[in-house]
Formats: sequence, structure tokens, C-alpha cells
Amino acid sequence: MSQEEGLNRIESKILELRSVLHEHNHLYYNVSKPIISDREFDMLMKELEELEGQYPQFHDELSPTQRPGGDPVEGFEKIQHQYPMLSLSNTYNSEEVEEWMKRVEKGLEGEDVQYVMELKYDGVAISLIYINGRLHKGVTRGDGVVGEDVTSNVKTIRTIPLVLKPGAPESLEIRGEIFYPFEDFNRLNKERELNGEPLFANPRNTASGSLKMQDSKVVASRKLDCMMYSVMNFSDVSAHSQAVEKAGNWGFKIPLTKNKMISTSANAKGVMEFIEYWSEERHNLPFAIDGVVIKVDAYDQQERLGLTSKSPRWAISYKFETERVLTQLESVTYQVGRTGAITPVANLKPVQLGGTTVRRASLHNADQIAKLDLHNDDMVYVEKGGEIIPKIVDVDKDKRTATLDMFGQIQFPDSCPECSTKLVREEGEAAHYCPNYDGCTPQIAGRIIHFIGRKSMNIDGLGSETVTQLVEAGLVSDPSSLYELQEDQLLPLERMAEKSVSKLLQGIVDSKKVPFERVLFALGIRYVGETVAKKLAKAFSNIEALIHATQEELEEVDEIGSRIALSIIEFFNIEDNRLMVERLKSFGLQFEKIEEEGATDKLAGLSIVVSGVFQIHDRTGIKKLIELNGGKISSSISKKTSFIVAGDKMGPSKKEKAEKLGLEIISEQDLLEML
Ligand code: IVH
Repeated sequence: MSQEEGLNRIESKILELRSVLHEHNHLYYNVSKPIISDREFDMLMKELEELEGQYPQFHDELSPTQRPGGDPVEGFEKIQHQYPMLSLSNTYNSEEVEEWMKRVEKGLEGEDVQYVMELKYDGVAISLIYINGRLHKGVTRGDGVVGEDVTSNVKTIRTIPLVLKPGAPESLEIRGEIFYPFEDFNRLNKERELNGEPLFANPRNTASGSLKMQDSKVVASRKLDCMMYSVMNFSDVSAHSQAVEKAGNWGFKIPLTKNKMISTSANAKGVMEFIEYWSEERHNLPFAIDGVVIKVDAYDQQERLGLTSKSPRWAISYKFETERVLTQLESVTYQVGRTGAITPVANLKPVQLGGTTVRRASLHNADQIAKLDLHNDDMVYVEKGGEIIPKIVDVDKDKRTATLDMFGQIQFPDSCPECSTKLVREEGEAAHYCPNYDGCTPQIAGRIIHFIGRKSMNIDGLGSETVTQLVEAGLVSDPSSLYELQEDQLLPLERMAEKSVSKLLQGIVDSKKVPFERVLFALGIRYVGETVAKKLAKAFSNIEALIHATQEELEEVDEIGSRIALSIIEFFNIEDNRLMVERLKSFGLQFEKIEEEGATDKLAGLSIVVSGVFQIHDRTGIKKLIELNGGKISSSISKKTSFIVAGDKMGPSKKEKAEKLGLEIISEQDLLEML
């Protein structure tokens, strides 16, 4: 075979792998019907990566290997929309909907009209342009006329196809909504809480913020999703609903009739039924919607109805009511987090809202207090909307007394409510911080509480109250001082008897065995969560290597972008932190990765569920074995599960779920053979 023939074959192999992977990606993310296991998928991906690495001449930026987008984008290029991105006029009740339908029918001189009803996804609009079936650009709405080119971030979203399936038009502009599903949003916030970062208010703003981030790696770590709702330039069909259905065949995620997420009707009764169904059912959706969109289906009728300057006459939205109540503001208190971030909290006169009693509402930061123009004793409107924590949306200023109006404005404090140090606000940051890193009790206690946590050093016998007690008594000032605690220092403390003291001291001794990756997480470096700590421990086998790593070296690690890299560098630039690490090291904590005997990475990247009773090993033994070989144990089955190792008496509900998702179930014997 000549060299040229050889290369041709390799190119065909690469092209075939890409097309197969694009297809599996679609089946997995858009249709939720994978036909191969995650493991097989990973193996195909690995094969493609290897070939592409060896033959860079066949590089393609839209290869499935190129998600998540690599290089950070500097600013965003402005792009003029070929078709302006309009908004919708809103209606709030059935009368308004029926009036609109009458206007439509009058505009069409009494012709029969078919209406399409869809959900109004609560996210950010995106316009995707494909040329020759390949993703060319992703553009935000911007001001409707000019948007921003966010292609590199859009490429990280798994439900957006990079390459379209056969049958798609050569040139295509398609629009939809990018949103953040609740589950992933909540996970992100939990992680932020653990890392001492301020929480995000709601999925919509977070989706919109994520899309405009400079670092695509971070965007990729946020599991954004996208549902398409308009095909702009496709003339093979005569109605919107048909075009949307076609888009599903080309590889897009679209609403399905069988899930009742899209439906058609020729009359107000059908339209209202759809609205009523979703105004209840929306609470069971995995993502936020804020209403329903009703459109005239036939393109020729849409054209005849035309547009006003802001919105089409052929579509409207019906907005759901957000439950809102009026109550009194009792006080605003300020919490100091482990990183020193100050979070204002509104304490309210208890009130019923959406089935729960609300006593507190988040206020996020000083800007929000100023924006609301919040005063003492104000009567405030509280909403629960898409948010997890209720928030104050408005103030009833008429109910304010003149004196309070003049003198009662809530002032964000200049100094820390706990230690009185003057607060600082970094440029571009919304939050105020207390800079008294080593003198402010809640910060010190917060860091130690993080250090001893279950996912960190897991110190038995020590809880957050005891930590605060120890800090206040001046017995500990940073995590390393825990290892110097003596029995006679602890016994005089409140609620400390001999037994609890010895349990605590034993817990501290035991923690010296905790592996490097968890010690790294326990240090509490900003943005270094559990997953990042694991990646770091894998990439840098000991703490010295990490301390001396350059920004470039850090960013070479999977999922680590400039924000995390800079935070790590900053942490180790502080002498106190380096000294603390030295002390912890001298007490015998693990600052090196221990290569356990028999360790491999045969199961690296796989998420495995273990269920049932086993013959050779016990369940803990099986789990250890999986982790030793680089696999991750997951307690629940999801579409992310790679496979299940099942023994006797596997839980019936687990079994059913596994079968439903088409997951592979293997035996203990299979696992041992695999390893
Ligand atoms: S159609 C001419 N359909 O709502 C407007 N929009 O206020 C074409 N949206 O910016 C939009 N779900 O981001 C349409 N099923 C849906 C939608 C939807 C959410 C958003 C969209 C748009 C805004 C309009």
C-alpha cells in the first residue's frame, strides 16, 4: 500500500469515527436512547483522539473530541443578525389569549388557523448558524439586531450538534433557548457553598452568565442544555411544527408531542387546556419555564400577519403567575463566610408562600439592597419564582412612614459585623469581603469546619459548634493547630467529657491517613472543589510540585482554567499558607499521592454503581477494587452511569431503572476478569 493510500484509509477511519460519535452523542443527549454503553463510547472517543493526535493534518475543530472548546475567548465579537431576534408580547389570562386569537383570525379574514403551543423556556436565546451541516456560529440575542459571537461556549453544550445529520439544509439558521437544568444548577450551588463562594440566584441568570464566560472549560463543566424553537430559513415545509420536527431529525433537541411539550389546536379550548396542564405540571419539569408560547403554525399565515417593530403578530406568550406575598422586613443581618464574603440576609415576618413558611430571603449583595432602595420596617414583596431561596422583588413604598423614608435606609456595613475590620470590594466583584483572614472568627472557624468535613479530613467527634468554641477559646487558629491539641486543654471546655475528648483526639490521629486528594480539598483553596482536587492530585504527585506549578502547567490539567489556576497560585503565594502546609506535613498528613499496590487506571472516567450481595468480595471490597482501578462509585443510577456491578438480590427498582436506560449489568466475575 502506498503512503497516500495509507493516509486515505486513516482519513476515512477518522471521518467514520467522527460520524459514529456524533450519532451516539445525539442518541444519548437528545433522544435519551443510547445504543452503546458509555464505556464503548469512551473507547471510540479514545481511538479517535489517538488517531487525531497522530495525524494532525486531519484536524477538525468540530470533531467530537473538540468539545469542550479549548482556548479562552477574549471579549466577544459583535455579529449582526440576518433576521432580527424579536421578543414576544405577553398575555396573563385567558381573555387576553382569546382576544389575540380573534385578532389573528380577523387579520386572516376568517380563515381556519392551526395554533402551536410550546413551553416558554426560561433561559437565554441563542441563534445557531450551520454551513454545510457544520456549526459555524452561535450568537446571543444582544439587542435583537446585533448579538455576540459565543461559538466557543456554545460548542460545549452537548445537546447542540456540532455536525448535522444527513437531510439537513446546506445553510441553516435555527434558534432556541439555552437553559440550566435544576439538578445541575443545584449541584453547582452546593459545590459553591462547599468552596465558600457566593451562591447563584437562579438558573436563568447563571445560564446567561455562563454563556458569556471567557473560559470555555468552565462553561463545559456547567451542564447547560438547549431546546430549539424556531427554524429560520427552511422552505421545504409549510408550517412551523413540521420544521421543528425536522430539526429533531437533523440532531437537535426539540420538544416532543408524546411528552406534551408541544401540541396543536384550532381553537381556544385546546390552547387553554395546554396552558392549564402546564401551569400545574411545570413544577415537575427538570428545568424552569415561565409560561407558554402560542404561535400560528402555517408559514404563509405568519407572513401575512407580519411583525410589529418589536414582536411578531403571529405569536404571543402566556406568562404564568409567580406567587408573591407581602410581608414586613424585620431586620437585615450579615453573614461572614469562610472566604470572608459577606452575605446580607433579610429576616422577615413569617409568611406562607408556595406551601412553605418563609422567614428569610436572600439579598445577595449591596447592589441589590440599593436597587430595592430597602428601608427599615419596609413592607416587601417576596417571590419564589424559579429560585430556590425566596427573594425580595419589590417594596411597597406607600406603606413607609415619612421618618423612615428619610432616615431608615438600610446601609451596607463598612466594617465586618464579626471583627470590625474595614470591608473591601474587589473590582468587578459584587460581594464585599472581610480581609481579616487570620483574625476573623467565622472565617477561621469556617476554614476549620471545611477542613474537618466529611468529604475533607472526616474528623470524627468534632463538629462545627466545638470548632467555634475552640477558636473562641484561642486553642486553634488554623487547621494545623488541631494536631497540637492536648487532652488537658479540651477537658475544661463546655460539653467536653473524657470520653468525647478521647474520641475527638482519636479522630484527629486517624485523619492522618486521609489520602492526598482529600487533604488538598480540605485546604480550602478557593474554587478547588472535590473534583478539581482529585484532578490536581492526579496531575501533581506531591504538594511541592503543586506549590511550584506555573499557571500554564496548572491550566494543562483537565477542567482547570485560569480562574482556578490563579486562585491556587495566590493561595501558595501567602506565606502563612505555605507554613501551615509545612506544619501539617510535620504532623504526618498525606501530601503525596500513594501509588497503591495493584492500582491501575483501567476504569478511569467510568461511573459505576454497585448493588446486591457478592460471593468473593463483600460490597465494600468491590467498591475499593473499582476505586483502586480508577473508577468512580456512584450511589444512584442515571444516564451517566457506565455500568452496574450486580450481585444477588440487586434492588428491583435499581434493576428496573438500569433496564430502562439500557445500561449494562455485569457480575462480580465479569468485573474481576475485566481487571
Ligand atoms: S419564539 C419572535 N418560542 O422568549 C419571537 N421563544 O420574549 C420568537 N422563548 O427571546 C421566539 N421559549 O428566548 C419562542 N418556545 C419558545 C420560547 C421562546 C422561550 C424566549 C426567547 C425569546 C423570548 C421572547
